[in-house]
Amino acid sequence: MLFYDDLYQILAIPELYDPTAEVELDLGCGNGRFSDEAAARFPNRLFLAADIMIGRMRKCTNRARRAEHGNLIPIRAEGRLLVTKFLPDSSLNRIHVLCPDPWPKARHRHNRLICSEFVGQIHRTLKTDGEFHFSSDDQPYLETVIRLIETSGLFKRDDSRMAEISDIKTDFELRWLNRDKPVTHCLWVKAPLTFSGAGH
Ligand SMILES: C[S@@+](CC[C@H](N)C(=O)[O-])C[C@H]1O[C@@H](n2cnc3c(N)ncnc32)[C@H](O)[C@@H]1O
Repeated sequence: MLFYDDLYQILAIPELYDPTAEVELDLGCGNGRFSDEAAARFPNRLFLAADIMIGRMRKCTNRARRAEHGNLIPIRAEGRLLVTKFLPDSSLNRIHVLCPDPWPKARHRHNRLICSEFVGQIHRTLKTDGEFHFSSDDQPYLETVIRLIETSGLFKRDDSRMAEISDIKTDFELRWLNRDKPVTHCLWVKAPLTFSGAGH
């Protein structure tokens, strides 16, 4: 198994055009622990595990190869480019952004995966009733994301939908928990666009 590093390969994934397929994206997946465990638990769902770092993507790919997952595609990609340019409308059931780099310094903020423009892309690529799952150990980033999502009017929060995966931890979550640093998870459900362009 190799990871995809030519993003045009993404366009040939048939599940992205099949409304009955179940597809989840783990954006900034790191070594892929979350996608690996989720792919084993839900063999009928396709997991796209994407990260920009080649070393992490190799580890993710090796992990998936050892587990012989046929339902996990590792993708080396810059996350915003992948979602914005290569994922069709209404193609994903879930997007996970778990313990992303918080970029705490103001001059580095533009590197954060979640920003106001990207919230619209998350909404566009999710199917009706699709879910956005976010976690962070970093309180300021968490508060920013909650504010961005809540004020967008494009989502409704429903953390109860995380029950089936709440025991699956990423490498970074395990690292923070070992240091007694809490990690907060949030889940939002895609709301339909209204005539004015905002959900209600
Ligand atoms: C703090 S790590 C968390 C990894 C994993 N989600 C976890 O919780 O163990 C953040 C990951 O996001 C990746 N990353 C950062 N910026 C990215 C971007 N713009 N596009 C894709 N991946 C990115 C990093 O390479 C890194 O693997």
